Amino acid sequence: MLKSNSFKYVGVADETIDLFESQYPVPEGMLYNSYILFDEKIVIFDTVDQRAIDTWLSNVQKELGDKKPDFLIIHHLEPDHSAGILKLHELYPEMKLIGNPMTFKLLPQFFDEDLSALYVTVKDKETLEFGAHSLTFYTAPMVHWPEVMMSYNPEEKIFFGADAFGKFGVDQTTYDWACEARRYYFNIVGKYGNQVQALLKKIGGLDIQAICSLHGPVLDEDLGYYVGLYDTWSSYKPEDTGVLVAYASIHGNTAKAAEYFAKKLEEKGEEKVVLTEISRSDVAEVIEDAFRYDRMVLFSSSYDAGVFPPMESFLHHLVAKNYCNRKVALVENGTWAPSAYKTMEKIMEPLKNVEIIGDKITIKTTMSKANEEELDALADVVISAKG
Ligand SMILES: Cc1cc2nc3c(=O)[nH]c(=O)nc-3n(C[C@H](O)[C@H](O)[C@H](O)COP(=O)(O)O)c2cc1C
Ligand SMILES: [Fe+2]
Ligand SMILES: [Fe+2]
Repeated sequence: MLKSNSFKYVGVADETIDLFESQYPVPEGMLYNSYILFDEKIVIFDTVDQRAIDTWLSNVQKELGDKKPDFLIIHHLEPDHSAGILKLHELYPEMKLIGNPMTFKLLPQFFDEDLSALYVTVKDKETLEFGAHSLTFYTAPMVHWPEVMMSYNPEEKIFFGADAFGKFGVDQTTYDWACEARRYYFNIVGKYGNQVQALLKKIGGLDIQAICSLHGPVLDEDLGYYVGLYDTWSSYKPEDTGVLVAYASIHGNTAKAAEYFAKKLEEKGEEKVVLTEISRSDVAEVIEDAFRYDRMVLFSSSYDAGVFPPMESFLHHLVAKNYCNRKVALVENGTWAPSAYKTMEKIMEPLKNVEIIGDKITIKTTMSKANEEELDALADVVISAKG
């Protein structure tokens, strides 16, 4: 929770949502954060998802009492933060809306009412005063939508980071923050590493004591740790030394080969080996691990002259998220005309600085003695590719 006498928390913990953005399993739910600044002016920071509007409005009205908000800041227009704009406008028709030119270019697409008379348009690095508190706005285009902006309150040294530094889950503590923040980052923001790097440079000189994301806990201790992880992630550097062994197997034979290989890696001294069956995993978790480690080995069955669809889908996700700067080995299985290897290679072609290491290995239905020897040799290649 934010330690402040002037900013009040009015966000909502959504514990019933199954899939965030209709694709990410969120067994721990989702936070939609929102604040009200009470000063000479009263400023609401963002609304929430449609699912949480009633609870949010009741939080807002409880804090406001019979006061009226002067401004609503729209840091991000995605519906999980903007679903309440019209509802709030209907309750407080004089309330002004703070956004940047891109916010107001896109806003009319979200509903029919013309609210343009209420727009307060800010530019990058523009400051607005609300009494004893001011806010400086920082546009953050494509982190991860074009209209995203962030803001900094210099009096209390609080940075409002929109979706940046967000995570899945409703936990308001920072316990094991990186686990769900990493899955969130790579799957939702991952393609925009360069834009995140630009943002980190832009805000690098600010004295920030607390980061308030739209999802997840307030970060107000050890900020170097969180900013350091964002720097690593957005520069596409591996975070940890280790090998992700991910497989897609129809009948279990490719699975056996992947298990054999993972065990070999460990026997030969590899300290961190993560073995994952893609078909039975949340693909977002596999994406997270692919980015986390410096090496990845993929095992897949062939399928209809291509690659088994769960692997194909995973690889397309990797390409979409700009996976790069890693070393990868590929192993295929097929019964009559193995086709997984060349299909995987083809899908991975656009990836920058992804080196395919080791010799091509083809399993014909079940792993042979010769395959065991090839996999032993591949383990040595993967271990020596460390770092
Ligand atoms: C629908 C389907 C399509 C397949 N297409 C191919 C193929 O195009 N080429 C091939 O060599 N094997 C093909 N196979 C065979 C599988 O690749 C083979 O059973 C598998 O690699 C064995 O490993 P597994 O037990 O891990 O699935 C196909 C199997 C199924 C069920
Ligand atoms: Fe978003
Ligand atoms: Fe969001």
